[in-house]
Amino acid sequence: MKIVTQGLSRLVFIHGDYAIKIPWINFVKLIECFLRYEKEGVFNKKAKRYGENRILALFNYIYYILSSNRREYLYYKKHQNEKHLVPIIRAFLFGLIIIQPKGKVLSHSHIRWKNLLGKITEKGIKHVDLVKPENFCEFNDDIRLLDYAGTETQYMLDFDYEIPIIIRTS
Ligand SMILES: Nc1ncnc2c1ncn2[C@@H]1O[C@H](COP(=O)(O)OP(=O)(O)O)[C@@H](O)[C@H]1O
Ligand SMILES: [Mg+2]
Repeated sequence: MKIVTQGLSRLVFIHGDYAIKIPWINFVKLIECFLRYEKEGVFNKKAKRYGENRILALFNYIYYILSSNRREYLYYKKHQNEKHLVPIIRAFLFGLIIIQPKGKVLSHSHIRWKNLLGKITEKGIKHVDLVKPENFCEFNDDIRLLDYAGTETQYMLDFDYEIPIIIRTS
């Protein structure tokens, strides 16, 4: 069994043909992310999305991170036939823990990732979850998104019908 700790919001156990996703918080990544926002001068703007009061915003954000699996599960329930998403084959505790089939995760040097990233950036998309190869994988010869828990990711997938097509055809 392999344990993937690189995600911000999920600890992933790879066992056989399955990926078991458990909620967690990668504090190193979280602090890196806060420092980047601070450096870019967007920290306050981003924090305000989660509440006017800083403490409340922090709690809301932690809740947002820990409920990633449930958001992914609810999104998948609405889009079960979509061929650009890695399916969720089992969910426990109302989607708090989810199981996906294991995909072959893309890397920066993968030719299909270069192709996909080229098309995504051509469209002017900068959203963080859609420009990371580790959020995509090869599954049944298709490229699919394995991390679609983000509210903004889901909004973009719904808002622009071309994004799913770009993913599938890369
Ligand atoms: N279905 C899957 N198949 C193979 N690896 C996966 C799968 N789901 C997640 N992973 C691995 O676990 C990492 C973290 O999962 P992800 O869904 O991206 O969570 P996070 O919200 O923490 O970024 C991924 O970058 C990938 O390496
Ligand atoms: Mg991810």
